[in-house]
Amino acid sequence: MSAFARRVVLLTGAGGGLGREFARQLLAAGADLILSSHSPQRLTAAAEFAAHGQPSGKTGRIRALLPADLSDPASCDRLAQQVTQVAPDLDLIIHNAGIGLYGPLNAIPAEAAERLLRINLHAPIRLTAALLPVLRNRPHSQIVFISSILGRAALPNISVYSAAKFGLRGFASGLTAEGYSVSTVYPFFTQTDILDAPQYGEGPKRRVPGWLVDQPPPVVRASLAGIAARRRHIYPSWKAHLYAIVADIAPDILPPFSRLVAG
Ligand SMILES: NC(=O)c1ccc[n+]([C@@H]2O[C@H](COP(=O)([O-])OP(=O)(O)OC[C@H]3O[C@@H](n4cnc5c(N)ncnc54)[C@H](OP(=O)(O)O)[C@@H]3O)[C@@H](O)[C@H]2O)c1
Repeated sequence: MSAFARRVVLLTGAGGGLGREFARQLLAAGADLILSSHSPQRLTAAAEFAAHGQPSGKTGRIRALLPADLSDPASCDRLAQQVTQVAPDLDLIIHNAGIGLYGPLNAIPAEAAERLLRINLHAPIRLTAALLPVLRNRPHSQIVFISSILGRAALPNISVYSAAKFGLRGFASGLTAEGYSVSTVYPFFTQTDILDAPQYGEGPKRRVPGWLVDQPPPVVRASLAGIAARRRHIYPSWKAHLYAIVADIAPDILPPFSRLVAG
């Protein structure tokens, strides 16, 4: 039986490129899903995408669709309350929602940087804190953070995003030390809308060449295999693995690498 069969999973960012693929693969693996995203339309479309072509009667189910604006603490709290009501048997949270933001720090409006930190860092902390009482009731509960290779080593012109992703790693490490079962996933560049995130400043338009970009289905497959095995740190492609190895042994060669993803 799949490691996810009948497990009750809250997935944020379900309407995005990685999120809808997580929803599809988790449904196929028999999970009972609570899906959340910012846009109700993208959430409905993701649920349809996830269910499309699944063999009837052999998959999990989508228990609830819960739109929420994770940049707004009140909306985060509302989401946590709704999850507590519809899923008092919650087993697993996958904190996947996130936004990108490129450019030198002095070109980035303070409000844009703060919004990123609210969505990518504050919301996972706030939601986790609000849902811990529910998770503590479940014997095999688990918390998963979708960080990034940029949460292992930073590149130029993406410092605020890296701050949030490093922050998730620190938070995950603290929760692990407190005895919770926590996994952090570090995807490499993957073909989703986040690659077209807003760019500030005068520099050349950022673009990641196609040959360098991973695709969502194998990234999500490898992520779920790592989550099922309860690995603490998950590198869901060989490029993510290689980046982490270089980050450990020769981090100074990484910033010049960023020339590949600009101009
Ligand atoms: N793709 C990559 O290259 C890559 C690499 C490393 C890590 N990651 C991480 O992977 C995760 C998923 O990103 P993705 O690549 O799938 O990007 P994506 O397609 O842009 O999806 C981002 C998701 O975040 C949600 N979101 C954005 N603002 C929100 C808000 N205010 N409140 C609630 N949800 C909000 C979006 O909701 P709506 O769809 O409803 O608007 C969407 O579902 C992110 O944490 C990202 O940092 C991605």
